[in-house]
Amino acid sequence: MEQKQGLVNDVFDSVASSYDIMNDLISLGVHRLWKETLLDWMAPRPNQTLADLAGGTGDIAVRFLQRGGQFAHVIDINEKMMAEGQRRREINKFRSKLAWVIGDAQSIPLKDNSVDRATIAFGLRNVPDRELALKQIVRILKPGGRFCCLEFSHVKNPLLSSLYDMWSFNILPKVGQLVAGDMHSYIYLVESIRKFPSQSELCTMMADAGLVQIKVRSLSGGIATIHSGWKLD
Ligand SMILES: C[S@@+](CC[C@H](N)C(=O)[O-])C[C@H]1O[C@@H](n2cnc3c(N)ncnc32)[C@H](O)[C@@H]1O
Repeated sequence: MEQKQGLVNDVFDSVASSYDIMNDLISLGVHRLWKETLLDWMAPRPNQTLADLAGGTGDIAVRFLQRGGQFAHVIDINEKMMAEGQRRREINKFRSKLAWVIGDAQSIPLKDNSVDRATIAFGLRNVPDRELALKQIVRILKPGGRFCCLEFSHVKNPLLSSLYDMWSFNILPKVGQLVAGDMHSYIYLVESIRKFPSQSELCTMMADAGLVQIKVRSLSGGIATIHSGWKLD
């Protein structure tokens, strides 16, 4: 597990400076729509606090605040990713409502029952012990709090699946090489998506961690998925 985390850290050290632009390129901008859908579903309220795990450059936290959330903790194991986030212009007016915390989703540096909402976007795939991370998320959520996970998933439609495979295996690593100067990190990305649990497996993992009322939304034919669950009141 330590070895996997080391590899993941190397990947994000390498891609940090081009992460935001690469996200737009490799998803053709669609990651923005997926993130907005996540926020639509969460519908932040003015008295709510968020812990955004594997928060990277702060995309989810900023959207949470733009929609009126009270305070957001961006928690990520990688300092370089968060340093890139802190340079973003959009965060200027939210500086006092954002905490950037270096931390591992497997041992979240927040108190028990302390946040109203927790999110992890394109992050759970990278965490070596996902069961432990889910238990930690339940620990930090207040009773009645909600967790949402946005992650790549598995495409079922055969035509879309073959187009997606072509994009993933043939084009994406080349774009990674061209723009980020790093093909291997984008090969890791494709492989980690293939190995990630199915929608129903992730539902089971969330239930085992103690979440209830688990619901799933497929996005773009299953290329990405949002899982939502609640901590019992
Ligand atoms: C693909 S990026 C996602 C960033 C952001 N959530 C987004 O949607 O743009 C994955 C992030 O997970 C972070 N990460 C990987 N393992 C982690 C761990 N064990 N705990 C916290 N963050 C982790 C990486 O450093 C990286 O910033």
